[in-house]
Amino acid sequence: MKIQTFRQRKVAREKISMVTCYDFWSAQILADSSVDTLLVGDSLAMVMHGFPSTVHATVEMMATHIAAVKRGAPNKFIVGDMPFLAARKDLGQAMDAVTALMQAGSNAIKIEGAAGQLPLLAHIVESGVPVMGHLGLTPQSVESLGGHKVQGRLDADAQRIFNDALALQDAGCFSLVLECIPQALGERITLALDIPTIGIGAGPNTDGQVLVLQDLLGMQKAFKPKFLRHYMQGHELLSNALNHYHSDVVEGHFPSCQEVY
Ligand code: KIV
Repeated sequence: MKIQTFRQRKVAREKISMVTCYDFWSAQILADSSVDTLLVGDSLAMVMHGFPSTVHATVEMMATHIAAVKRGAPNKFIVGDMPFLAARKDLGQAMDAVTALMQAGSNAIKIEGAAGQLPLLAHIVESGVPVMGHLGLTPQSVESLGGHKVQGRLDADAQRIFNDALALQDAGCFSLVLECIPQALGERITLALDIPTIGIGAGPNTDGQVLVLQDLLGMQKAFKPKFLRHYMQGHELLSNALNHYHSDVVEGHFPSCQEVY
């Protein structure tokens, strides 16, 4: 997938699939899959590092994971997340962060929110870096949102998100993630924009979908928000394999005579 493919897919009404990826070994699996594009999301602070929110992701952390994903999936289109406040510091620091993510191997960056940063977004785009927007539930604002909650249920909030979506398109974003908003709002924004929308908890009528890899693989049994589908019972499958290995070791079934030098 190339940057031009995003708009072509929207025109052709062909959906875009995106999955998060944070490391070399899962990147190798995704490289062999038909998934269109990879997101090195700042959710890695939670999924890979065990922090309670994405606020803990840093530019260095993002660059390290992006580089690992690039090594594992060099031919996939990789979007790297600008971490907490990286786009809210002065222009020099923001551009240093963009430089770090791009030099690590991103093909594009993703920035949460719109208000107060439209000139910066336009500057990044004019600098030759593709920018993906992100509206609705923007997890870096978890403290002001009061938790990971559906956004845009009230008319005024829905209108604000809608206006922000138009403003991000005008600023030059090539695509837009819509997270945890009512289906009707996801559809309204998708119909109004020329750039493709990629939804997570935004209903079926966006131009594409994104899920966290570990979530769709069912790695955390208890994590099952309404929008999520578990494509396998990963936690159970992995636990069974590990327990099988353990019992083979303690019962002397591993290694066998074929597994020795
Ligand atoms: O960081 C992330 O994983 C994301 C997706 C949920 C869209 O931003």
